[in-house]
Amino acid sequence: MNGREHWGSRIGFILAAAGSAVGLGNVWKFPFITGMYGGAAFVLFYLISILFIGLPVMLIEFSIGRRTQLNPVGAFRTLAPKGPWFLVGVMGVTVGFIILSYYSVVAGWTLSYILKAVVGGFNGFSSPEVAGEAFAAYSSHPVWPILSHAVFMFLCVWFVSRGVKSGIERGNRILMPTLFLIILLLIIRGVTLEGSGEGLKFLFKPDFSKLTPNAMLVATGHAFFTLSLGMGAMLTYGSYLSKKEDLVRSALWIMVADTGVALLAGIAIFTAVFAMGFEPNAGPGLVFHVFPAIFAVMPGGVFFGILFFLLLSIAALTSGMSLLEVVTAYFIDQRGWSRHKASMVFGFLIFLLGVPSALSFGVLGKVHIFGMILFDFFDYLSFKYMLPLGGFLMVLFTIFRWKPQSLLEELRKGGPALKISTGLATLLLLISALFVGVTFVAGILGKA
Ligand code: PHE
Repeated sequence: MNGREHWGSRIGFILAAAGSAVGLGNVWKFPFITGMYGGAAFVLFYLISILFIGLPVMLIEFSIGRRTQLNPVGAFRTLAPKGPWFLVGVMGVTVGFIILSYYSVVAGWTLSYILKAVVGGFNGFSSPEVAGEAFAAYSSHPVWPILSHAVFMFLCVWFVSRGVKSGIERGNRILMPTLFLIILLLIIRGVTLEGSGEGLKFLFKPDFSKLTPNAMLVATGHAFFTLSLGMGAMLTYGSYLSKKEDLVRSALWIMVADTGVALLAGIAIFTAVFAMGFEPNAGPGLVFHVFPAIFAVMPGGVFFGILFFLLLSIAALTSGMSLLEVVTAYFIDQRGWSRHKASMVFGFLIFLLGVPSALSFGVLGKVHIFGMILFDFFDYLSFKYMLPLGGFLMVLFTIFRWKPQSLLEELRKGGPALKISTGLATLLLLISALFVGVTFVAGILGKA
């Protein structure tokens, strides 16, 4: 389509897509759900999901995006003008809206914790219990979490409103290398600390009795979440690509970066959790309990504390941008809004939807939906149910409507001549559809 903005360079695209994938999912969510759902067996199932469904769905999203040069709704409308397939796009835009609303709350916590680290606020955190109480006091406060949530949404709008190339791409070009540098520094710091074998055992020695159908669905849902799949974020980023890009190679890079960061974060946190005799199943507060307590006692702790929460904030920001971009692109393409208007209006609405989540650790703590506080409800609804469902439908769409042949055609543009027959591609797609479908149904029926 003429006039559509494109990425300025290949590396710019890869950094932006990796920026979308690497986020709070890796450093905040992956450790806490691994802690809650039993450790290594859960991790193994997550890795299998990444391979069997993460890769195909990412390739599908990039291909559909680049082929149509449109947002998720427009893309499905173009490829399947008749029929209800565009609803997959509608669901995607809606999920983007929901995820960003509570994601921004956690991102706000990380921003506040940078500040806390700067003023030496971790000094008195002699144990994870003290740090845990401090976190509970902070997250249940009626004002601070909302203010920091607002600051984070403002930052997302700031980048997205400036456009794909001069906002999102430029931001990622600076933020992502910074992020990798910080990770490197933190790892050097981490391995020179006294670690704990118990933590590694928890992460890498599977106990399959803990792998309930429910845990499997959480692992699969997380595979979608961490790779930004199932709701059209990668589709939207793919829509700013030209035909010159090698989609398969890009996808592999992004997956390696994302999985690598998750495993490193997992190692960092679980060695610390077990070394300090802390419980691994603390839920969403896990990194906010454990790390400040470590920084309080470790040499150079203030410095590394600032770095760590800066890392989390950057990771969150580059993902938050991609979530807001999905909603923004829809209103630009389909409704003819200006980028400024779309990003600002929806940035604000998403902020409003996030307020109840922000308050659900405090004044709204008694409000439950399906037995969960609002924050958990939005989180589980989106990542455990809607993303796998979206991914499942995208695979079905490719098999039965768009046809595997068209997918291969698109993948071959700009890439090496993929030596894979249509028959084999169809089989692989069927396997991933079956994988998600069975996990989904078993997870829902086997509520454990
Ligand atoms: N992948 C991001 C993370 O791991 C979250 C995300 C989900 C971003 C869906 C975009 C779309 O934090």
